[in-house]
Amino acid sequence: MSILPARLRRLTPTRLRDDVRLRALAVGFGLIPPRTMHSPADARVLLDAARDARRVVEIGVYEGASALALLDGLGPGAELHLIDPFGSRPDALPSGWGASEWATRRALARAVRRRGRQAPRVRWHVAHSHEVASRWEGEVDLVFIDGDHSEAGCELDWSSWRGFVAVGGRVVFHDARAGQPGGRGLPGPTAVVTRRFRGEGTPGWEIAGEADRTVAVRRTG
Ligand SMILES: C[S@@+](CC[C@H](N)C(=O)[O-])C[C@H]1O[C@@H](n2cnc3c(N)ncnc32)[C@H](O)[C@@H]1O
Repeated sequence: MSILPARLRRLTPTRLRDDVRLRALAVGFGLIPPRTMHSPADARVLLDAARDARRVVEIGVYEGASALALLDGLGPGAELHLIDPFGSRPDALPSGWGASEWATRRALARAVRRRGRQAPRVRWHVAHSHEVASRWEGEVDLVFIDGDHSEAGCELDWSSWRGFVAVGGRVVFHDARAGQPGGRGLPGPTAVVTRRFRGEGTPGWEIAGEADRTVAVRRTG
């Protein structure tokens, strides 16, 4: 929900629309919604993977658009862990873009208040994902990998988190379908998904769903 109508927002020059400090103020005070980074088809794959999940980890939160989608899709009693170091991240965002921890936390807090008792519990980790993984305990039902988009960064997220995923649980990769029919993506996540899940694949894992830029894989054993 946002105060400024979309028609008015579209009139804003790109230079202003992308200004990190102005965006932070506008997102933080709820004047504009967090920038949407996923298509409806991406969201369907993600929310399908999140169905009935009790513990979800999102790597890469930015302004919070996909975190808000997850928040809406999860039931009360579920835990949503949000991991992002914030600031400027050349391997994760177009040049000059960046999100503010203050603004994103406020956007999520508003959504939690709106859901009231039905809201999942939100846990913040302002850090790099592999640091959080190094002190993590317990199983998770879904890990959404949308942080560092370099091949090494995406591979590190996969290798740091795959062991925590419960049998039947999912890992969802964003920006991972470059060159696939009807697909889009970036070279890093696409290379990781191609190497790990297409062709010979990884024992104990299979592709569970994919569309547009998103691939969901399921742990089978
Ligand atoms: C593409 S944006 C995430 C978009 C968000 N998932 C959405 O759909 O609204 C990438 C984010 O990943 C974060 N990031 C970069 N490296 C990271 C890392 N190692 N661990 C966690 N987050 C990281 C960046 O700060 C940035 O906010």
